[in-house]
Amino acid sequence: MITIKDVTLHEVEALLIPVYEDEVSNINKVEVLKEQKAFLGKEGEVFCATTIEEKVRYEIFIGVGKKEDFTSEGFRRALSEGARKAKALKVKTLGVQLLVNEKLCVGGNVKAITEAMSLALYDFIKYKTTDQHQEEMTIYLTGVPEAKRDRAQIKLQETLHIVEGVIIARNLVNEPSNIIYPESLAKEVEKLGEEAGFEVEVMKEETIKELGMEAFLAVGMSSENKPRLIVMRYMGEPDSQEILGLVGKGLTYDTGGYSLKPTDSMKTMHSDMGGAGAVIGAMSAIAKNKVKRNIVAVVAACENTISGSSYKPGDIIGSMAGKSIEILNTDAEGRLTLADAVTYIIEKEKVTEVIDVATLTGAALVALGTTTTAVVTNNSAFYERLQGAAAKTGETFWELPNHKDYQKLIKSEVADLKNVGGRNAGTITAGLFIGEFVKDLPWLHLDIAGTSWVETNTGYLTKGATGVPVRTLYAMVEGPCGCGKH
Ligand code: BES
Ligand code: ZN
Ligand code: ZN
Repeated sequence: MITIKDVTLHEVEALLIPVYEDEVSNINKVEVLKEQKAFLGKEGEVFCATTIEEKVRYEIFIGVGKKEDFTSEGFRRALSEGARKAKALKVKTLGVQLLVNEKLCVGGNVKAITEAMSLALYDFIKYKTTDQHQEEMTIYLTGVPEAKRDRAQIKLQETLHIVEGVIIARNLVNEPSNIIYPESLAKEVEKLGEEAGFEVEVMKEETIKELGMEAFLAVGMSSENKPRLIVMRYMGEPDSQEILGLVGKGLTYDTGGYSLKPTDSMKTMHSDMGGAGAVIGAMSAIAKNKVKRNIVAVVAACENTISGSSYKPGDIIGSMAGKSIEILNTDAEGRLTLADAVTYIIEKEKVTEVIDVATLTGAALVALGTTTTAVVTNNSAFYERLQGAAAKTGETFWELPNHKDYQKLIKSEVADLKNVGGRNAGTITAGLFIGEFVKDLPWLHLDIAGTSWVETNTGYLTKGATGVPVRTLYAMVEGPCGCGKH
C-alpha cells in the first residue's frame, strides 16, 4: 500500500533517504562513514543506520549519484535497492523522502517512487507452501508540499494503475503453462476487462477457421488446449478515426513442435506470451486511467506442441491475408500467429497504426542482451514516438536495419514466403516476415525475447517476467505531465 503523508522516524519503522554523491557530507551520520568510505552516495549504494528506541528503527540512505548526472531511471534503480533493504529488514511501515530537482517535479517523484517501490518488491512465490509470506509494507511518500497534494494524489492513483498493468503482465507470464493456456488466458482477460473497463471478445476454433486464419491454426491445432483469439477494445476518443492496434505474441507454451527445443531452452517457454502479457497489462492501465485514445489489442493465443495434428517442416500453409508460407522450422511459430493477428487487426478492427510485441527470436537476446528491446519498423516518425516514450520510462529500444536485401531472405521458391530466413540476421528476417502483413500502415515490431525475462533481480526488475514494455506502451498514449515541463 502506498499513501501520501508526512511521517517521522517515530511514526514509521524506517525512512528511505535519497542522497546525492555531492551532498553526502551534509549528513552527520554519513560523514563518519564517508571517511571510512562505506557510503559515498554513488548510485545504487545503500547504507542503513540503526537506532534502538522502543523498537529497532532504521534510516536507510540510498545513493543517487552526482546531482548533474541525475536521471529518473537512476533514481528508480537506487530506490529499488532501498526497497530490497527494507524488505530484508522485514519493515512494515516505510517513509520515502521525495527528491525534487530541475529534472524531476513533485509528480515525477511520486511516479518514480511508486513504480520503483512496487515493482522492486514484487515476487512470485504463491506456489511455495513452506516459506513464510512477508506481511505487506505500507509506504508513505513524505515531503509533498501542501499546495501540490491534490496533483500528487492523482499522479499516485494513475501510477498505481500503470504498476498494476506491469504486475498483470508479470503474473500472466510467470504462471506455468498448466495454469495459463489459451482458454484460461481468455478467461483472465475477460475478468480484467470487466475490472478495468475495456471490451473483450473471445473467438474459438470455428470462428478462427471462418476468418481464414490458417497460419495461426497451423500452430494452434497441435495441442489439446485449443487456440483462442482474444480481442480487447477501448475507445477513449470516440470522435476520432485513429485507432492504435496492439498485437501480442501469445504462445502459452512453445516446445518448438517437431523442430523440438532442447529441455534447457524449453523450460521457460511458458514465458513465450510476454508480448500478450504486455499488451493485456497496457490495456488494463490505459482503460483504468481513461486515456483519451482508441486502442484495440489482439492476442492469438495457442500452444506449440507435438501431436498427430501438428504442422511439420516442409508443409506449405495458407494465411488470413491469402499469402502461402513454406514451413522450414516449426519452432519459428510466433511469426505465423502474428501474421494472422496483424491481418485480423487491420482488416477487421480497422486500426490505423500497429505495434506488435513478441518474444520472437533468440537472436534478439544474442544481439542486444537482456536490457534493450530490438525494433524493426517501416516508419521513422513512429519510431521517434517510441523513443520519446522510452526516454520517460527508462526502458530501452534499438532499431535494426531493414533494407530491401533482407526481404529477399524470406522469399520461398515454392510458396510466397518461408518462415525462416536462414542463420543470419534472425531478428530482422523474423520482423520483416510480420512486416509482409502490415500493408502500408505505420508499424513497430518489438522483439522482447531478451527483455521480457531476467534470471536475477536487477533494479526494479524481478527474477522471471519483467513486464517490459507495458510502461512504454502506456507512455506512448498518455498525455503530458501536469507540471508542464515534460
Ligand atoms: N519463442 C522463441 C524465441 C525465444 C527464444 C524467446 C529465447 C525467448 C527466449 C521462438 O519461437 C523461437 O523458437 N525462435 C527461433 C526461430 C528460429 C527457428 C528461426 C529461435 O530464435 O531460435
Ligand atoms: Zn519457437
Ligand atoms: Zn516462440
